[in-house]
Amino acid sequence: MTEAEDRSGWVKRPTAAIEGTGCTLEDYQALYARSIEDSDTFWAGQADRLDWIKDPTVIANWSYDPVSIKWFEDGVLNICHNAVDRHVAAGHGASTALIFEPDDPAGEVRRITYAELQAEVIRMANTLRKMGVTKGDRVTIYMPMVPEGAFAMLACARIGAIHSVIFGGFSPEAIAGRVEDCRSDWIVTADEGLRGGKRIPLKANVDAALDKVSVKAVLVLRHTGGEVAMTAGRDHWYHELSADVAADCPCEPMQAEDPLFILYTSGSTGKPKGVLHTTGGYAVWTETTFRHVFDYREGEVFWCTADIGWVTGHSYIVYGPLLNRATALMFEGVPNYPDHDRFWQVCDKHQVNIFYTAPTAIRALMREGEGHVTKHDLSSLRLLGSVGEPINPEAWRWYHDTVGKGELPIVDTWWQTETGGVMITTLPGAHDMKPGSAGRPFFGICPQLVDAEGEVLDGAAEGNLCITRSWPGQARTVYGDHDRFVQTYFSTYSGKYFTGDGCRRDEDGYYWITGRVDDVINVSGHRMGTAEVESALVLHPNVSEAAVVGFPHDIKGQGIYCYVTLNADVAESEDLTAELRAHVRKEIGPIATPDHLHFTPGLPKTRSGKIMRRILRKIAENDHGALGDTSTLADPGVVDALVEGRRNR
Ligand code: PRX
Repeated sequence: MTEAEDRSGWVKRPTAAIEGTGCTLEDYQALYARSIEDSDTFWAGQADRLDWIKDPTVIANWSYDPVSIKWFEDGVLNICHNAVDRHVAAGHGASTALIFEPDDPAGEVRRITYAELQAEVIRMANTLRKMGVTKGDRVTIYMPMVPEGAFAMLACARIGAIHSVIFGGFSPEAIAGRVEDCRSDWIVTADEGLRGGKRIPLKANVDAALDKVSVKAVLVLRHTGGEVAMTAGRDHWYHELSADVAADCPCEPMQAEDPLFILYTSGSTGKPKGVLHTTGGYAVWTETTFRHVFDYREGEVFWCTADIGWVTGHSYIVYGPLLNRATALMFEGVPNYPDHDRFWQVCDKHQVNIFYTAPTAIRALMREGEGHVTKHDLSSLRLLGSVGEPINPEAWRWYHDTVGKGELPIVDTWWQTETGGVMITTLPGAHDMKPGSAGRPFFGICPQLVDAEGEVLDGAAEGNLCITRSWPGQARTVYGDHDRFVQTYFSTYSGKYFTGDGCRRDEDGYYWITGRVDDVINVSGHRMGTAEVESALVLHPNVSEAAVVGFPHDIKGQGIYCYVTLNADVAESEDLTAELRAHVRKEIGPIATPDHLHFTPGLPKTRSGKIMRRILRKIAENDHGALGDTSTLADPGVVDALVEGRRNR
């Protein structure tokens, strides 16, 4: 325990972080109260920091029953103007917007000023226009972690197109499904990506996806220079098509509720949902959360290690930082290449001030020992952040003590793709921290815990986490399927947004997220529906049935445990195990690779045929003593066979 800590398990906020910050505990309390009691005035005040073509006069207009969510609805703005042009016009064109650190540490670093960013975004926007993209069209972006990925997002926003970014680790099948779902006619990609020295065949994946669905055009960035096939009439090299485009491109005026982007995310049932975010509310929410949560100060270098393919990258690599005229670092690589010190080497090299990463990375690096950290000068670091999954107190302490030298505040930020930005966190100048707790609600956020029947739980309690009021960054719908949006988030507990997470609130009003309570698992901070992995497995001709659950994993947080019943004439074998793993990778992508395949002649089912997942989870967790009542099973003997099978592995 360090000096900064007291005996109760709290970690005091350091006084150094308070100096110069806009938000003390008293500020937080006053602002939070105002954000609830006088919500419209509060949010109008936050919105005021942005440039509006027409100022909004109606601030919040929402209902959870029936579900209709609007913020700033009569306002008109363009988020790209606010993230880029506004700063150039104000004389900050020479400030650095993005720093690009390539996968190869000896590769070329790129520093992109706001003026250069403006020129690049205009070039991309005019190229998209040349391809025929117009306002309201969906543009799929399947890019490596290079600045052109951000240019493409901002270019879409500039011309009013809706971007749908797909993480570069997804398979051709996953790309095809997403392109088809939102009827996207354009794809922006690169020849190849680079991660940890390995080449990722992005263009080849797009080609394979386009065997199943068709688009009007594909724009291809030359990145590695690797050989790729180009289909005449459909595929265009970016450097060729952009060569003669105009150097100006006005920002399209957008209604606040015009769609900004679709981002696919996994749920407990069915295929991934296209979560839709709109323009004005998302802009205000990412600008405000970034400013307060990271206590950003002019000139600082902010590094979020996420990929732009996830919501964290959307909100805290691209929109939040740029709306605040911050300098954001974009890293192409991985934490352990060429060695386990890469994160810390990059922090030192670019004098990073604020560092935001995921618990899975912290746990993986912690295992490699502190020597990798201490050999670098990390004195520029001022604030640390965590996101994506619960951080276990051991990892929190290592992060705090080894990376943060026992001094730096950590913001453990709880949020979701659907929330657009941070919802529960401590604020660095305002709150003491408790390792493992996300902390307190952000401005405007009203969390509520309910039991399984929907009874509200007050005070210190544990239950299912709901949010009772809307906030500006809330997702508005599931693209093309509003009923699914209503069903998924607002039907479990009527009149409330249900997060899908379990949570405990302690006697100090701090929130401790306990993990998903639905059939969603969180593998290395990546959200995955067990149903998706099951669907992939049963597509294999030898598989008759599959049930997938999560189990605790030291590094990944949760691993993927698959129970598989083979067709009667098929024998299990190591070759088949390898084949099934490869099959899931092909169907979804490497992030869905099963950790365990457990072949079983049968699954535990009730007499009505429902698979008892509770039992499967316990067996996967090796918690055989707590299987509970198995008397309702059609064949209780199945459980003994499964337990025996688990013991043998
Ligand atoms: O279970 C929660 C977990 O990640 C889920 C959201 O995943 P996704 O939409 O992919 O967004 C991840 C990045 C915002 C949540 O339902 N989660 C996220 N952050 C935390 C967390 N669990 C605990 N603590 C967190 N800080």
